[in-house]
Amino acid sequence: MAEEIISATNLISLLIQAQEEALELIKSGSKSSEELRLLILGAKSDIARLTKQIRLVSKEERQKVGPVVTQVKRSIEEALGQLPTRNVSKEWIDVTMSGIRPPQGHLHIVSQAIIEITRIFERIGFTRVRHPEVDWDWYAFESLNMPANHPARDEWETFFIESSLSFRPLSRNPSSRKTRIPGRAQDDNQHIVLTPHTSNGQVREMEKKNLPIRMINIAKCYRRQSDVSHVPMFHQFEGLYIDRSVSIGHLKGVLDYFVKQFFGPQRKSRIRPFHFQFTEPSFEVDITCGVCLGKGCKLCKSGWLELGGAGMVHPEVLKNGGIDPEKYSGFAFGWGIERTYMMKAGTQLDDIRLLYSNDIRFLEQF
Ligand code: PHE
Repeated sequence: MAEEIISATNLISLLIQAQEEALELIKSGSKSSEELRLLILGAKSDIARLTKQIRLVSKEERQKVGPVVTQVKRSIEEALGQLPTRNVSKEWIDVTMSGIRPPQGHLHIVSQAIIEITRIFERIGFTRVRHPEVDWDWYAFESLNMPANHPARDEWETFFIESSLSFRPLSRNPSSRKTRIPGRAQDDNQHIVLTPHTSNGQVREMEKKNLPIRMINIAKCYRRQSDVSHVPMFHQFEGLYIDRSVSIGHLKGVLDYFVKQFFGPQRKSRIRPFHFQFTEPSFEVDITCGVCLGKGCKLCKSGWLELGGAGMVHPEVLKNGGIDPEKYSGFAFGWGIERTYMMKAGTQLDDIRLLYSNDIRFLEQF
């Protein structure tokens, strides 16, 4: 594309005009000399733009423009040079002034709740333990009186690991595998699951052969569900107490203790008959609503909120863990951390999924 030819006179008068404007600006004293230099002579300035246009002037006339450009730049440099320099000796900083704090993060509320729950149970002699979050079907179901195809399993919307692809014996030594899965012979179809509850820790803890047992197993759990009150990955804490002559009275005592410690002294607990395959008798534990304290309100209707399951460990489960049910008894309970936390007075969470949406505006509040 042929570029337009411009006349030298035209370009010179534009340069002179730019020079005048620049000198005016310098005189006005409104900017520092660094800022002025950038504005007037920088790559995006009028003068730089005009200088580039020299190549649009015909060859014969170009030599007229060159000296004008030099002259314009020199006069501007001179004017800039005459500006007073910064007087650093008159400037000062207040070294005692407090600085600006960088934003500081904190633990996620679920982590805070895990720490708090651990501390509460530690005070009455329970020890926090960890058991696998990806485990054999045996520990998650079969050892808890739920053989394959048992309808009670439907309650736990379980994720199974594709066993034909991922099953590998944990040990090459078949006899050591036998001890890992006591109830099962060598069976390559033994499924592996993402634990749908922390109860898989019950038989695993019993296998340590360290009685009495006072464990609190806190772990991630997985179920195929997602709505305002469910997330596919959540946390449970599982208590297990096994000793000689443990009774329902002990269970109720521990529940009351926890409820008062975690929710506050004004909250009460109650146990209602329920059914689980692995406890007998089984209960559902309720606590009084934090808003109406048991009177009944719009939020809770009956005055009570459901916390989770509990019960006396089933003799078969004790046997599966190698413990003699004639000599020992115990109780267990398992509740969701997220749900429990939401029942604390003042936590107005209407969608549990917020906990895991990583919205900093939400997380900063806790
Ligand atoms: N594992 C049960 C659940 O996920 C809760 C439970 C634990 C019930 C221990 C009884 C004893 O619902």
